[in-house]
Formats: sequence, C-alpha cells, structure tokens
Amino acid sequence: MAKERSSLSLRYSARSLRDGFSERGPSKSASRPFDLRSSLLRVFGVIQRKKVVILRDNPRLCGAVLAASDTKGAMIERLLAQPAWRPSYSIESEDGARWKQLATDAKTVMARLHWRERLPPIIARRFRDIESKQQVRAGRLVDAELFAKLVGSIMFELVFDFPMSTEDEALFYSASLEWRKQIAVKAEGDGRIKQAFWSRLTVLVEASEFKDGLTTYASDPAAWLSVFAQPFLISPMINVGDIFAAAFEFLRKDAQQLERAKGWARDGDRPRIEGVLLEAIRLRHPFPILERELSRDLDAEGHKIAAGTHVFMTLDDFDQDQTFDPERWLAPAKENPYHAIPFAAGPRMCIGKPIALELMAQLMTGFLLSESLDSFQPSVGHLFSGRDNDGKESIAESVYQVRVFAKAMWRSMRIRS
Ligand code: HEM
Repeated sequence: MAKERSSLSLRYSARSLRDGFSERGPSKSASRPFDLRSSLLRVFGVIQRKKVVILRDNPRLCGAVLAASDTKGAMIERLLAQPAWRPSYSIESEDGARWKQLATDAKTVMARLHWRERLPPIIARRFRDIESKQQVRAGRLVDAELFAKLVGSIMFELVFDFPMSTEDEALFYSASLEWRKQIAVKAEGDGRIKQAFWSRLTVLVEASEFKDGLTTYASDPAAWLSVFAQPFLISPMINVGDIFAAAFEFLRKDAQQLERAKGWARDGDRPRIEGVLLEAIRLRHPFPILERELSRDLDAEGHKIAAGTHVFMTLDDFDQDQTFDPERWLAPAKENPYHAIPFAAGPRMCIGKPIALELMAQLMTGFLLSESLDSFQPSVGHLFSGRDNDGKESIAESVYQVRVFAKAMWRSMRIRS
C-alpha cells in the first residue's frame, strides 16, 4: 500500500517479536517485548486459516518472495489499503482481473506520456520557479508542503500538459494529506476534500488527450481515473517527500557525506546520486510493509515456504546494515542483497521506477547545487508518515486504530466464510 502505499503503521513497540526467518540464526523473540502489530497480523492469518510468515531481515529472501508472486492476498492491502484509497482504486492494492486491467492501463498511459523527453524540461522549469520565488521571499523554507506541491505540479504537467494552477496545487496537496492520514491509519480522511479532488480530476481527464478511457470505462469511470489519481498524482506527492526528508536527514548528519553528495551533483554523477536516493529508501522505506500470498511453493535462500502462505516484509522494522552508503548501489544487482527492496521485484514491482528516479535524481541534484540549500527542509511540517507515524500517537489516533482493526477483523471473518 503506497504509503501511499501500503502502510500498516500501528507501532506500539519499536522492537518486535522475531518469528519469521532470520539471516542470523536462532530467533531472538524471547528477548523482545510484545509487539501488537505482529500479533494482529498473525490473528488475520488464524481467522483466514492462512499460514503467516513475517520477514524482518534477509533481503534476498524478500526479493525471492516478491519475484515469486503476483498476488497481494486478503490481508493489509485488501482490508486496510483498499478502503483507505476509495473512491480511487489503488493499483498496488488490488488483485486479480482489476489489478491486471489497472496495471496494463498504467503502462499504456506511461508510454503515451513520452516522459523521457518531456519530464526533464518540466522539472527544470518548475525548479527554477521555486528558486526564483525563494530569492524573492528570502528566508521562506522549502518545507514539506512546498516540496509536495512542487512534486505534484511536475507530475500534473507531465500528465495534463499544462502548468498547474495555485488552486489545483492547494486542492491536490490537501487531498494528498487526507489520503496519507487515512493510509497511515491516523484518522479518517476528509471525504469532502477527496471528493473535490475526484471531481476536479474528472474534469481534467475529460479535457485531456486521455478522455478516451472515460468512454471505454463508462460504467465504472473510477477504473480509468484511478490510473491517474494514485500512481501519477497522489502517491508521488507522498512518497517523494518521505524519501527527501530521509535523504537530507542522512546527508546533514554527516558533513563529509553532504560534501561528497554535492561533488557528485557537480560532476553529474547520476549513479551515485541515485545511490543517495536508494539508500534513503532502503533505510526509511516509504512502504512500511510489503506483502505477498504465495501461489506456489518457494525454495530460496535455504528456506522453504509453502504455497498459500501469506508473507509480510516489515520494512519499517528491518534488521539490516544501518550504514548510509550510497556507493553500495554501484554493485551489480546480483552482488547487492538489497536490490529488490526500494522498488520491489517481480510482476508487482513498481512500474514507475524510471520516472521516479528521473524526477528524484534531477531534484536532488538541483537542491544540492542550489545556493539556497539551507532553506531546503523537507522534514519541516512532514505529516502522517506511515513509516514512523511522526513518532507520535494521540489517544484519538489509538482509538481510531482500534476501530479500523476491529472492522478489518470482521471483514476477515467474512472472507473466510
Ligand atoms: C517516488 C518513489 C516511488 C517509490 C519508492 C515506489 C515504490 C514502489 C514499490 C515498492 C512498489 C511495490 C509495492 C509492493 O510490492 O507491494 C510500487 C508499485 C507501484 N508503483 Fe511505485 N514507487 C514510486 C513512484 C512511482 C511512480 C512515480 C509511479 C507512476 C508513475 C509508480 C507506479 C507504481 C505502480 C503502478 C505500482 C503497482 C504495480 C503493481 O502492483 O502492478 N510508482 N512502487
């Protein structure tokens, strides 16, 4: 669930029971405190009579699981992410015929965008706009809100082929916050704001070169509108901010690392700039949990997992090398155990990866070279991260989470029967 995404963010315990497979030998679960989230995931399994495996390490095994299945199953994506995304379908969360249709259409839209030629000049122009505004309003930070609007306006122009108005920027940004709040299981998103976004999106698509899909899907326009809403517009406004907040946290923690990154930006060293982004994703993944239901037996990395098992990969609680080392991504995929972690692998891997990397590498280079780098603060005002829940949990949020999980349990029982 794109944390946009698939975000089950209930984290009552920083450390968790280790009851999946471990790279490092015997389970340490006995020394760890009770983890409510793992227990809930297991309860879903019991109710649905499915074997559950939780992987908290072993990135190669995670890669093998991701590559082996095209099915998300009937747990987090279905019980939590799908309802949170309504009225949009989420390509990342759907299964079966609807997933195939949405994924095929998203690929067709990507091909029609000619993004390789069109995206770089759009980013360059929008970046210059932001920089000149910075000079006029000296001291104004590029905070999480301004950054999300920058990303949204770039993706908007790529899709609709004209610059985004300030009214649309404000509406799309508010809608992204309402979705991210609900996907991060913090509170119910405001339905009126989501609906206002949806109505505006309908008008935009009707007036665009993509209006043909509304005729094809006349009986269910959401099947077409969702192809734009989630992967191209709302999700990037959420994910890219998460990644930049993390990347700059790592870079600013270590002055030498920041200087090295500036040097890579000056030299146009794209592989190392991408390495900065991939390390930020690996260590602070915007998708807290990936999941797959296995449709066939898997024998990989010395482990056997039976067909029908539901596998959760808890990337927000992953036992891995914590060193921020962008150059590890220069190694060929075979030699990099983490290669499947940032964008997944197999039939459900991110189809927007090349767009996302182009967008993020160009923005990262721009900010690193900017004279106003100090005012680039993407973690200021960064809200509702599904990854760490902003490090906060109010009583109202906890009550909301209990309600959401109770409802999910109830739906789970109905799935079994
Ligand atoms: C910005 C950074 C992005 C990151 C870190 C990211 C990451 C991911 C990951 C990890 C998945 C797999 C989820 C899973 O296995 O459960 C995924 C799926 C997906 N991504 Fe991305 N993504 C990004 C941007 C984009 C963009 C810009 C687009 C489209 C333009 C996009 C389109 C998709 C789609 C359509 C899927 C679902 C594929 C399927 O289930 O068939 N992503 N993404």
